[in-house]
Amino acid sequence: MVFKVSTVSTSPIDGQKPGTSGLRKKVKVFKQPNYLENFVQATFNALTAQKVKGATLVVSGDGRYYSKDAVQIIIKMAAANGVRSVWVGKNTLLSTPAVSAVIRERSGADGSKATGAFILTASHNPGGPTEDFGIKYNMENGGPAPESITDKIYENTKTIKEYPIADDLPNVDISTIGVTSFEGPDGKFDVEVFDSADDYVKLMKSIFDFESIRKLLSSPKFTFCYDALHGVAGAYAHRIFVEELGAQESALLNCTPKEDFGGGHPDPNLTYAKELVARMGLSKSDTGGEPPEFGAAADGDADRNMILGKRFFVTPSDSVAIIAANAIGAIPYFSSGLKGVARSMPTSAALDVVAKSLNLKFFEVPTGWKFFGNLMDAGMCSVCGEESFGTGSDHIREKDGIWAVLAWMSILAHKNKGNIDGNAKLVSVEDIVRQHWATYGRHYYTRYDYENVDAGKAKELMEHLVKLQSSIPEVNKIVKGIRSHVANVASADEFEYKDPVDGSISKHQGIRYLFEDGSRLVFRLSGTGSEGATIRLYIEQYEKDASKTGRESQEALSPLVDLALKLSKMEEFTGRSAPTVIT
Ligand code: G6P
Ligand code: ZN
Repeated sequence: MVFKVSTVSTSPIDGQKPGTSGLRKKVKVFKQPNYLENFVQATFNALTAQKVKGATLVVSGDGRYYSKDAVQIIIKMAAANGVRSVWVGKNTLLSTPAVSAVIRERSGADGSKATGAFILTASHNPGGPTEDFGIKYNMENGGPAPESITDKIYENTKTIKEYPIADDLPNVDISTIGVTSFEGPDGKFDVEVFDSADDYVKLMKSIFDFESIRKLLSSPKFTFCYDALHGVAGAYAHRIFVEELGAQESALLNCTPKEDFGGGHPDPNLTYAKELVARMGLSKSDTGGEPPEFGAAADGDADRNMILGKRFFVTPSDSVAIIAANAIGAIPYFSSGLKGVARSMPTSAALDVVAKSLNLKFFEVPTGWKFFGNLMDAGMCSVCGEESFGTGSDHIREKDGIWAVLAWMSILAHKNKGNIDGNAKLVSVEDIVRQHWATYGRHYYTRYDYENVDAGKAKELMEHLVKLQSSIPEVNKIVKGIRSHVANVASADEFEYKDPVDGSISKHQGIRYLFEDGSRLVFRLSGTGSEGATIRLYIEQYEKDASKTGRESQEALSPLVDLALKLSKMEEFTGRSAPTVIT
């Protein structure tokens, strides 16, 4: 059929500024007339013509509620804007890392490559008719659009007057693999629906030694549990863990992707991954029985991960440090060495110690995966991670939840080479972490989140903390008044980053108080919430003495926590006597 293009008049809608990771709002906001359309057109208009006309675009996401409607709208707008092909994962499902892999690795039947993607996700935010939807644009390198583009998108949303749409184009059946071809004013337009996992699985097999992981999983001594929290990771978990690696079906928990994530909050942490946490013997409502050796969870779009051992939690900050320390021997992709490592500013300094000891290039970047992407494109970074349960490498330009699990399985397989058969006890996740602390020291770490607080009050709290920084002696007087045994504050600032690749400067990336003994307090406003403001408080203390690395984390950190709450006047500003989430 030949489709027609019509032009729809519209007017700017407030509040379409993309956050840390795209535009995230309640579904009812997205369903307002022209809301999604304005944002999509503002994005097309922010791209150079050759990234639109005749281009191939990926459109998919975590399958949350409203994705199926959104994908049809974007297909019709892509057709009208002269896009040549739209690639869609079956049932709109593609994890965020899989989208990145598809952009970088996949070729169409005619050899075409995708130059970008609309990813339909609000990541770890709940989904469903009364919850969140989201959209973000990724570039040709497979990574999130840089600020120069997202700023342009935002500017465009403030002036938009019209958009073209092929509204007589029939909806495409996205549940069946295959190509549907149309003819429009600009020539041919194809929509190709493909398997959500194929390209990603192929990439994983080129990175890891699947055979050695398979051997580990085949051992009756090694037990495993993976919780997809009903997010899109489920579309990969069965294929990779069960079909490729031979795990038992029963190892998979909540691995059927659902539009509303089964009513849960698809964020892999100790608060929200309740079932897994219970199975791993980490909650009061222990499910009984012997917990598995290894457990992991993912968020809605499968870029985040949580790593657990039997009755043991691995902090994301430790996880990236441990992966970096073991990558070369355990993961074939890294056999020729690491180009460098990086972490986000609020992530603990555990990685710094590894980098120093292995003599690796090291970078501290602001929160947001895009900052790692620049380093990776320039060949300066192989492994990176964030405290917010994100870990990854330069195989793609997004963090990668399943990659992190395979990295840990590889380390476990490597350390247990001689123990898999016979009676020897396996080296456990906990053994690996404790050994790491004994070698490098331990960074006690915790994060307190105050979600959905009044935005004005949150701003006042931050202003109060910045103001305090003007006099360090004054700060130390206050500190000593609250906790006399805490070390002195050596310096305090707002984190600012100059990108070593493109020279761009990012200011106001979090308020830091750095102590003489290496402890840190960091305060930041979240860039991913969809309601009110979320204050994040990050607390860290370094312990080099191997005999003191075994304390309970909340207990070890309690003086610093107390100090942070009083210094910031948290309760006074927010009216909250306790955080909503502690990780
Ligand atoms: C997303 C980004 C991460 C970032 C996180 C921070 O998940 O992909 O790179 O660390 O958001 O979220 P926040 O709510 O702290 O701004
Ligand atoms: Zn995510």
